[in-house]
Amino acid sequence: KSIVILISGRGSNMQALLEANLPCRIAAVISNRADAQGLEIARARGIPTAVVPHRDYADRASFDTALAAAIDRHAPDVIALAGFMRILTDQFVERYRGKLINIHPSLLPAYPGIDTHERALQDGIKIHGCTVHFVTPTLDHGPIIIQAAVPVMRDDTPQTLSVRVLREEHRIYTQAIRWLCRDQVWLNEQGRISSNRLE
Ligand code: GRF
Repeated sequence: KSIVILISGRGSNMQALLEANLPCRIAAVISNRADAQGLEIARARGIPTAVVPHRDYADRASFDTALAAAIDRHAPDVIALAGFMRILTDQFVERYRGKLINIHPSLLPAYPGIDTHERALQDGIKIHGCTVHFVTPTLDHGPIIIQAAVPVMRDDTPQTLSVRVLREEHRIYTQAIRWLCRDQVWLNEQGRISSNRLE
């Protein structure tokens, strides 16, 4: 099996996947920004990279068509969004049904969207975390594969909280991709999670 990772920036989740010794091949890392730091990390490890700059395309549909072409070149079994900051069209999402997954820095369905740590602190919640889910047309809303919770400390800032969450992101994203690559977890016909995992 093989996976393609989509990034837009720092790429720490991508790096965790590159370092994880996964039971599948990382076929490529694709970014919508040429200046994404993660591209350097991937190149340094000899992973093929590509850039599909969203600004070069008139609309979401034409960007998504170009992105799909870059992905399909590698015919991956799993496409992992890892800090990929573009909203994808419904057609794109449907095309990769059951293959497209995302890591999100909150315990979904709480705090979809951006600035999750700021909003969590404003609300005074005591437990926060992260979620790996299949991507469906509704943003940050697909079937949940795995979550991890972390405590919110009294003196946390968005920064300190994000560090605690990010550690768990790296762990659960790796775990989710292990399950998918070993066919231990999948999206069933009903659009729900099926699993035959032993762990
Ligand atoms: C992570 O918190 C991820 O959950 C969110 O964006 C951040 C990306 O970080 N979607 P990195 O690029 O993986 O370091």
